[in-house]
Order: sequence, then structure tokens, then C-alpha cells
Amino acid sequence: MSKKESKDLMIDGKRLDGRNPDELRSISIKANVIKNAMGSAYIEWGMNKIVSAVYGPSEALPKHTGDSEKATIKCRYTMAPFSSLEEHGRPGMNRRAVEISKVTSEVFSNIVLLEKFPGNEIDIYIEVLQGDGGTRAAGITCAAVALAMSGIPIRDIPFAVSVGKIGRTLVLDMNKIEDNYSDADVPMAINPRNGELTLLQMDGILTGEELSRAIEMARHAGETISRIQRNAIGEQYGQIDA
Ligand code: CDP
Repeated sequence: MSKKESKDLMIDGKRLDGRNPDELRSISIKANVIKNAMGSAYIEWGMNKIVSAVYGPSEALPKHTGDSEKATIKCRYTMAPFSSLEEHGRPGMNRRAVEISKVTSEVFSNIVLLEKFPGNEIDIYIEVLQGDGGTRAAGITCAAVALAMSGIPIRDIPFAVSVGKIGRTLVLDMNKIEDNYSDADVPMAINPRNGELTLLQMDGILTGEELSRAIEMARHAGETISRIQRNAIGEQYGQIDA
């Protein structure tokens, strides 16, 4: 992350794509898009296009990856080879993808009733078809809908969003250019029911006060994101705003 050009990312208080600092990109979600999956969803979040599919529970394989007391969440986040023109980092299972898969597994381990399925695994696939900044947050938000559609018992439907810092301004939901040149990026995942933070990563430096405000911005954005998630689920049952 380069700091040298962050000043160019905001002009007269507006971002380069015309958004205000606390404005989300447009988000739309469609549930049940993959016939063979237990649950699935497709999200368009700004220019991001991501599909998620959930399989299981099924016997954990190889066996040593399972836990005799509870289910194991196995998440696989990948970017399709055509998803970006980025020069660094190859698509597919690289180091970054392993990291995102791990933190995403932790987000979902927090809300699935794992103890109901000892020795089993639940597979959550997140495939980025087109990436434009904030794909881990958009992927988690999408996978949460896929998981809800799978019928696997869950305590909550988490959402995720990232808050960044451009100069001294906190900005919600950075796109790729902002992500590249911003001064900080804080992706978060939250369980809306009890407000629990299950993902908090930080690239760059924020003061304690800025971090508190960033969390507050994410929580506030969550009201909109959660509503879009619930509507996507409700549409499958012929109801709006389930
Ligand atoms: O996607 P997210 O912001 O959560 O993760 P990141 O590692 O901060 O990457 C920022 C953005 O860079 C991604 O959203 C992609 O748009 C892009 N990227 C890419 O195009 N190719 C990669 N191999 C890695 C990142």
C-alpha cells in the first residue's frame, strides 16, 4: 500500500467515484444460483462480482482434518484468473487466498452450530469473478447468504465491510484504487444480532479514536447490508424483507 497519492483520492470532500466518505457502493445479492450446492448466492458489490456455494455437512476428509466433537468449517476463497489485471500475485490459491480463506472460516465458525455435526466438514466456496477492492468483505457477505440458504443451522447472518482512511478522513467501503493508495484499510465482519466483531484486520495505522469510529461506520453500514442479505433470502421464499 503506497501512501504517496492518498491526497489525490478525494476532491472537495467527495471520492473519485462521486461517493461521500460514508457511502457504500451499490450492492445486490441473488440467492440460490448454483443448482448442485446446498446453498449459494451471487453478489455484485460495486464492480465486484462474486459467487459463493456451500456444501455439507459431510464426513471430514481427510479424516485428520475433522474434529470428533464438532464440525469443521473449510472455506476456500479464490480469484478467477480473469478477475483482475493485477500484475502482482497470481490468481488461485496463493498466500493471500490462504489468509482470506482462514479468516473467513473463522467468521463462519462463530455462527454455525458446529456441535450438531461432529466429525463433519462444511465447505464454503467463494469465487471472485471480478475483483475491485473489498472482495473479502463482499465474499463473506455473499457466503453468509449462501450458508443461510443451505439450511445448516446458524445463529446469525454475518455481514462484512471495510473502512479505510484517506488522509484524515475515514471512508466506507473502498474500491480498488482507494484500496491501493489509501493510508489504511480495516475489513470487518459483524454478527448483527449481538454486534460481535468476528473479523478485524488492519492494514495501515489508525488511532484508537479512529478505530472506534471505523467500527461504528461499519455497524451503521451493516443495517443496509443486512437488509439486502435478508431480502435476497426472502425473495427465495416469495417474501420481501424476510
Ligand atoms: O479484496 P480485499 O480488499 O479484501 O483484499 P486486498 O488483498 O486488500 O486486495 C485489494 C484488491 O486488490 C482486491 O479486492 C482486488 O481487487 C485486487 N487484487 C487483485 O486484483 N489481484 C490479486 N491477486 C490481489 C488483489
